[in-house]
Amino acid sequence: MKKSLAVTLLLAGAFGAAASAHADPRARFMAANCSYCHGPEGKSTGAIPSLAGLEVKYFVDQMKAFKDGSRPATVMKKHANGYTDAEYEAMAKYFAAIK
Ligand code: HEC
Repeated sequence: MKKSLAVTLLLAGAFGAAASAHADPRARFMAANCSYCHGPEGKSTGAIPSLAGLEVKYFVDQMKAFKDGSRPATVMKKHANGYTDAEYEAMAKYFAAIK
C-alpha cells in the first residue's frame, strides 16, 4: 500500500514536470478551436491569416479590438467575445512560440 502510493506520487511529479515544460495545456485546448480557420498550429494555407509566430502584444491587441469592435471583423468578434484577456494572453504565447 505504502509503496504504491509512493509510485503514484512519483508518477504525478513526473507528469507535472513534463506538462510545465510544454505550452500551457489550456492554451493548447483553446487554440484547437482556432485551427479550423487559421490552420493546424495556427499555420494557415488559405486566405485567413496565420496565427503562428505572431507577436504576443499584437495578437492580444487584435483580439481586444475585435471584441470592442474597433477592428472590423467578419467572424472574429464572435470568437473574441468568448475569451477573457488572460485567455488571449495564454493563446498569444502559445501561437508566438510556434516556429
Ligand atoms: C470561422 C473561422 C475562424 C475561426 C474559428 C477563428 N478565426 Fe481568427 N480570423 C478569421 C478571419 C476571417 C480573420 C480576419 C478578420 C475577420 O474578418 O474577422 C481572422 C483574424 C484573426 C486575427 C488577426 C490576425 C492578424 O494577422 O491581424 C487573430 C489574432 C485571430 N483571428 C485569432 C483567432 C483565435 C485566437 C481564434 C480561436 C479562439 C480564432 N481566430 C478563430 C477567422 C476565424
